[in-house]
Amino acid sequence: MKTLIKNGTIITSIDRYHGEVLIDDGVIKAVGTSLNVQDSVDRIIDAKDRYIIPGAIDVHTHLDMPFGGTVSADDFNTGTIAAACGGTTSILDFAIQNRGESLQQGWDNWAAKAEGKAVIDYGFHMIMSQYNKEIGKEMRTLCDGGITSFKLFMAYPDVFMLNDGDIFRIMQHAASLDAMVSMHAENGSVIDVLIEQALKKKNIEPTYHALTRPSSLEAEATSRALVLAELAGTTIYIVHLTAKGALDAVTRSRNHGHLAFAETCPQYLLLSQDRYDEPNFDGAKYVMSPPLRPKSMQPWLWQGLANDTIHVVATDHCPFSLEDKALGNTNFSKIPNGAPGIETRVSLLHHAGVINHKISLHKWIDLIATTPAKIFGMFPQKGTIAPGSDADIVIFDPKKTYTISAKTQKMNVDYNPYEGTTVQGTCDIVLSRGNVIVENNQFVGQIGQGNFIKRSTCNKKDFTMPTQV
Ligand code: URP
Ligand code: ZN
Ligand code: ZN
Repeated sequence: MKTLIKNGTIITSIDRYHGEVLIDDGVIKAVGTSLNVQDSVDRIIDAKDRYIIPGAIDVHTHLDMPFGGTVSADDFNTGTIAAACGGTTSILDFAIQNRGESLQQGWDNWAAKAEGKAVIDYGFHMIMSQYNKEIGKEMRTLCDGGITSFKLFMAYPDVFMLNDGDIFRIMQHAASLDAMVSMHAENGSVIDVLIEQALKKKNIEPTYHALTRPSSLEAEATSRALVLAELAGTTIYIVHLTAKGALDAVTRSRNHGHLAFAETCPQYLLLSQDRYDEPNFDGAKYVMSPPLRPKSMQPWLWQGLANDTIHVVATDHCPFSLEDKALGNTNFSKIPNGAPGIETRVSLLHHAGVINHKISLHKWIDLIATTPAKIFGMFPQKGTIAPGSDADIVIFDPKKTYTISAKTQKMNVDYNPYEGTTVQGTCDIVLSRGNVIVENNQFVGQIGQGNFIKRSTCNKKDFTMPTQV
C-alpha cells in the first residue's frame, strides 16, 4: 500500500517546508518538495493549510495500573485510542515489578495487558520495587529484549520506594548496561512524617496533599538522585519535574558534565496549587505526585524548556474516576494519585507554547516527539519525518480550535483537569505505520494493531555532552 501526503507544511525539530511524504508499506520512503509520484500511489491525503508532523511520543503513561487501592481508569485499549485521537502514536508505559516478583514477571504482566488491545506502538520502562543480585542479572535480559530504562522511586515508601543503597546498586548496574535510570524524586520518608502530622491535626482536605509534599523535598531528592547517578556513572532522567529547586539541581549536575535529562508535564506548566482549594472535594481531581505548585513556578519551567534544562514534555497519564478519588474524602492521603492527560498534550503545548510564543514550532516537535525518541532509544525509527522512519504522522490543523471537555473526550474518565479550556490546534488525521487510525477526531483503526517497540539504549551521539564548568 502506497500513500502520498501532499500539499502540507512538513515540520520537524529542525525543518519547515511545503512538501510531500511518500509512504510504502508503513515506512516513509521519500520526503521532498515535489515527489512526482501521484500516479503510482494507492491513496492521496491532501494536507492543504495544515502541518505534517511526526506522531507524538508519550514516554510517561500508567495504563491499567493498580495503584492507591484501585486501578487507573484507562487500559491499553481506551488509553491508546485517546492517545491516538490526540496525536500520540507511541507510548512508553511503566511495567511494574511488584515486591516479591522477578522483572520478567512484571514484563509478562504488562505484555498481557497491552497485546491485542493497543492501537498504537508501545514500549515499556520497568519499575523496580526491589533489588537483589538475581534481579540485577535480569536487567541485561530486559535490555536485550528492548526494555532499556528502569524506573525507581524515592517516594511511596510502602509500595515502590527503594533505599539509597539499592538505588545506587541499580544505577551501577544500569551504567554497565548503558541503560537509562528514570527517577521519581520526592523524599518519601519525610513526606510520610508530614502526612502523619497533618492527619493528627485533622487536616484531611485535598489541599494538604500539596502542603505535605513541599517542593524542597522534590529538590532534595532530585539533588540526591543526581549525585548518586554521577557517582555511578549512569545517565538519568528525572520524571515529572515541577519546581525551580529541582531544576537547579539538574542544572548543577549538567554543569558537572553529567548527562542528566528532565521531563515536565502540561499540568505543571498550566495548572497551579490553588486548584486544591476548589469546593466540593473537586480539589481531588488534581491530586498527583508531585503536586501542582504555585503559579510562580511556571515561568521557571518554561525557561527550562527554552534553555534545554528540561528536555521532554510527557503526560504522567494516570486517570482515576471521581468515584475512585472519593476513596480519600475523609483523608487526603487515600486519594489515588494521578490525573488524565494522554489525549490533550499535543494541542495544549501547541496552544500554550507555540501560539503564546513561549517555544518555537520546532521546539514543540522536539519536546513531544524527537527528543523523547532519542533519549529512550527509538530514534530515528520514531520521532521524525525522514526516509526509513516509521510512517507515524499527524496532519495537524494549527488554526482550528476546540474546547476540552470530559463529555467529548476519549479518555475513560469522568472529568478533565482543563474542562472548558479552548485550545488552538487540533489533530485532523493520524497515521500509525502508514495506516490512517484517526479521522475527524474518531478512531478508525484496528484494535490490537499496536506493536511492541524493541528499544535500543540512548545513543549519546544524539546529544551534546554538557561541559563541566
Ligand atoms: O500522581 C502520580 N504521578 N501518579 C502516577 C504515579 C507516579 O508517581 O508517576
Ligand atoms: Zn511518579
Ligand atoms: Zn508516573
